[in-house]
Order: sequence, then structure tokens, then C-alpha cells
Amino acid sequence: MRLLKEADVAGKIVIVRVDFNVPLKDGKITDDKRIRAVLPTIEYLRKKKARIVLISHLGRPDGKVADDLRLAPVADRLSKLLKYPVHYEPDCIGSDVEFAVRGLHESDVLLLENLRFYPEEEADDAGFAQKLAVLAEVYVNDAFAVSHRAHASVHAIAKFLPSYAGFLLEKEVKMLSSLLKSPKHPFIAIMGGAKVSDKIGVIESLLKKVDAVLIGGAMMFTFYKALNYEVGKSKFEADKIALAKSLLKNSNKKIVLPTDVVLSDKRVVPADKMPKNSAGFDIGPETRAIYAEMIKEAKTVFWNGPMGLFEQKPFDRGTLAVAKAMSECRGVTVVGGGDSVSAIEKANLEKKFSHVSTGGGASLEFLEGKKLPGIDVLEH
Ligand code: 3PG
Repeated sequence: MRLLKEADVAGKIVIVRVDFNVPLKDGKITDDKRIRAVLPTIEYLRKKKARIVLISHLGRPDGKVADDLRLAPVADRLSKLLKYPVHYEPDCIGSDVEFAVRGLHESDVLLLENLRFYPEEEADDAGFAQKLAVLAEVYVNDAFAVSHRAHASVHAIAKFLPSYAGFLLEKEVKMLSSLLKSPKHPFIAIMGGAKVSDKIGVIESLLKKVDAVLIGGAMMFTFYKALNYEVGKSKFEADKIALAKSLLKNSNKKIVLPTDVVLSDKRVVPADKMPKNSAGFDIGPETRAIYAEMIKEAKTVFWNGPMGLFEQKPFDRGTLAVAKAMSECRGVTVVGGGDSVSAIEKANLEKKFSHVSTGGGASLEFLEGKKLPGIDVLEH
């Protein structure tokens, strides 16, 4: 990848694709991690006296203007974090935007409006990419979390400008690559969340690298179904049972399933003795202890997805146990994915991890070994 450090950006207009797809509640940002994550790139460009034009998406407005998905609150938050005024334009292409860019002074920062208000963004439209590219002299991608999308501001734009990876993208790629290239063993992956289908690619690919994949979240019930266990009213994917069966068969016993389950009425039962009339909401205490032991002794750990219904006490215990064990592990610990990241933030353990990825889908596709379009274009 071509890196920002190598780019000649002094005094230039630099357009930076960031991922400011932050959670909002009543118009207020509830988590600004993704904004803070790109501060090093912005500060560096400001020191180089570049004129900085930031572009991002927010949510999925489907190619139409949606007032609740405007980036104005992000501009305010970024100003506070930078302690420097951030200009904001309520559009991302066109003559008003060009005028605003021309008015920038050295080290100024301008945030443009949500790219996804235009359907051309997600269509990877070259004409739209060119309209963004004419605004600047250099392009930087610092939006790892959206680099698995072949969208105009991530992919097509790189044809029109000298293009480089920002510091966040560089760090994400370095950390995640180290898991694929030369991980120290034991290497444990922990996969949670609701659906096997979302994780199948990454589980298959990680099985070639890891010593064990610890399963949690509602996807465990699809695996139990594959073993003909009763799962009661628990959520599972009926059309993925065959897939779970073949994963178990081909995993060389590396797939580890929970041995006990916490039911919705808080009772704990062995995994193969679930009652018909109840649903499983979390991994049980025996499983928590087994998983914690394995995690603490590992030299490399990757985690994606909660172990249970972690938003609701006491069904957060499995997820918190994984977070705590990882924070006590002396090896390399990497977390990817929104919900697992929220869990470690809730437990205030963020600083104890080697790397907390800003990308959910992007980190999974990267670990699956797929070429991410936004990274690929920075390599050629
Ligand atoms: C994310 O939140 O994972 C990224 O911002 C990508 O968003 P998307 O899934 O809507 O493309």
C-alpha cells in the first residue's frame, strides 16, 4: 500500500475519505470512537499545512437526502476534538462545494455532506468519483471500516488522484495482517453474534490458522441443531444447519461449543439438556470458565461478536467474561466488530487490548482473506 508518510501533501488540497458512520441518538453522537480514530491523520495534514477536505457516509440513506443523517453534528464534535474550527458544507459535490474548498486556508478542515445522499456513491460511479476528485490534488483513504465496499469515494476515486492510505488504515492493515501472516500459537478465535451465515467465510478461513474457534451467541444453537440437540425456543438458522454440520465435520475438532447455557428465565442447563419451552440467552458459567482459561493462555486472540444478549443483564456475563479474559491475556489481542467493541467499552477495558478495530464487516472480510476494494486500489 502507498502510505501517507510517502505522499507530498505540503500546502496541497487533500481529500480524505473517513468513516464517520457514528451512532446517533436524537441527533447526538453516542460514540465518537471513529472520529477520534482519524485525528492522527488530520493532525499530521494540518502540520503539513495541507487544506483538508473530509468525506464520509453516515447510515444508509439509499441515495436520497435524509435530514437525520446529515454530518453537521460530526463537524461540531470534530471541531471540539481538534480544538480548531471545522467548516461544514451541506453537499459533497458541485459549485458551492468547489467554492468552499477554494476558500480554505493552510491547515483548514472542511467536512462535506453525507456521500450516500447520492446513489452514485454506492454504485461506484466514475463520474461521481471524478466530481469528488476535482476538488483536491491528493486522495487519502483513512476509512478502513468501509474499505470492503467498492464505492465511488473508496474505490473509483483512486483512478483520478495520487492515492495513499492514512494512518488508521495503515494501523488496521498492519494489526490484522499480523494475525494472518505469523500469529503466535496458541491462536484462539472467538466468534459470537446471531448468524452463522455472517461468519461462515471467516470461520472457514480462520480454521486454517487457529488452534480453536470458540463459539457463542445465537449461532451456537444452529451448531447444536447440527448435533441434533434440543434448542427449545432459541433462535437458530434452519437453512444453515447443514452448513454447521459440515463445518463441525471438517474443523478437525477445532470448533469448541458451549457446554452450558443460560435460559431466558436465568436457569442454567447443560447444552444437551435444553427444555423445549425455553430459549437460550447466553453461554453458561462452566463455558465462561473454560473459555476464559483458553483465552488467558493463548498467545494470539481474535474476537468478533457477543456471547449472548449482552445489552440485557444478566445475559451480558458471557460477553463480559470473554472481554475480561482477553484483557488479562498477555498475547496479542484483537477485537473487531461493533457489539464486541461496545462490550469492552462498557467494561472499560479498551486500553488493555492490542488492537480494537474500527471495522466490523471490513475486519471480517480482511481476515477471510478477501481483497478489500479500498485497499486494493492503493496497491496498484
Ligand atoms: C460500518 O459501520 O461497518 C461501515 O461504516 C460500513 O457501513 P455499511 O455496512 O453501511 O456499508
